[in-house]
Amino acid sequence: MDVIPLDDPTEAQIEQWHAVLTAVHAAEPAGDPAPVREQTARLLRDAGRRLWAAADGGETAAVAELRLPGGPGADRPGEIDIQVAPAHRRRGLGTRLMAVAAEGLRADGRGSVIAQVLAGTPAVPFLESHGFVCVLTLSGLLLRLDDLPPDRVPKLVAAGPSGYRLVRWRGMVPDEYADALARAKHAMADLAEYEGLPWDADRVREMAEMVAKRGDDLYTVAAVQGTAVAGFTEIVVPAGAPERAAQYDTAVVPEHRGRRLGIWVKAVMLEWLAAERPEVREIETDNAGDNAHMLAVNEELGFRRQRESREYQAAARDLPTIHSTRL
Ligand SMILES: CC(C)(COP(=O)(O)OP(=O)(O)OC[C@H]1O[C@@H](n2cnc3c(N)ncnc32)[C@H](O)[C@@H]1OP(=O)(O)O)[C@@H](O)C(=O)NCCC(=O)NCCS
Repeated sequence: MDVIPLDDPTEAQIEQWHAVLTAVHAAEPAGDPAPVREQTARLLRDAGRRLWAAADGGETAAVAELRLPGGPGADRPGEIDIQVAPAHRRRGLGTRLMAVAAEGLRADGRGSVIAQVLAGTPAVPFLESHGFVCVLTLSGLLLRLDDLPPDRVPKLVAAGPSGYRLVRWRGMVPDEYADALARAKHAMADLAEYEGLPWDADRVREMAEMVAKRGDDLYTVAAVQGTAVAGFTEIVVPAGAPERAAQYDTAVVPEHRGRRLGIWVKAVMLEWLAAERPEVREIETDNAGDNAHMLAVNEELGFRRQRESREYQAAARDLPTIHSTRL
């Protein structure tokens, strides 16, 4: 079995990578739309990722990507994703790719790595066999816009609390709100806790740049009081597959909670998207399993539970080395 790094993937390599993703999706669809080739191509050309493909009998059988957020050597966990085509599983390919990606992780000086996987799939025993520990359980929810009663969004928008100003932008945060948005992002303690990383204006901009590089569109709605962002919500509409948009962060800072700001900014976002991007038909979101409040907000809006996923983390030093694998 050969593992090759893809520094500058060719059209043929993109095609083979996409074939692996398509085969994996067909085996475990989880309600997600099938991968779109254009999106695969864009992901593979994003310079922020390291990529490897494993061939078995001349055919690409498995692929791995490692993201190293924050640039070389940053003090943040890497993010790994390994996909093995169903016909090639349980032969050590996943482990081999994990070992190769782990070398990349350690070479960059990263202390740990995270992976997000679907509950109840082979990924769970696979990661646990490599010493990964579950740090977060996430409920995957889906909102089908066609199922929404027509008066729901206008009523929620009209019921917004007084004393706040609505601001919205597409793409990069305007400079005047960058620090305030970072402070509001800090309110999402659940993620920061295990990433151990504070939000600042640079990290906010980095996230927006990452989305733009993929060709996707980021929309943000914020409720502002004075110069403070009291609450905000973000949606990303993927290029090439805009029918299903993804909810990114939503947060209300502690001193502004209990005033229905969260549901308000989300309803304003839905109204904006309906006018600006009518091709969006569904919105998907992940909520931390213990975030009862956000789950309640989403269910009131009309989101329905689809699946459960888990975020796993491991220390780089505990991951397999190339010499320890059986291939
Ligand atoms: C998870 C996945 C990558 C595993 O790939 P793989 O090549 O089959 O994994 P390996 O052969 O290296 O398995 C290593 C160990 O993981 C555990 N494991 C893997 N699949 C398992 C399964 N279906 N049931 C129980 N244990 C399993 C076993 O301990 C296995 O060792 P063993 O075969 O000696 O018992 C593959 O199933 C996959 O692509 N799943 C879909 C995509 C995904 O969820 N990726 C995870 C993101 S990191």
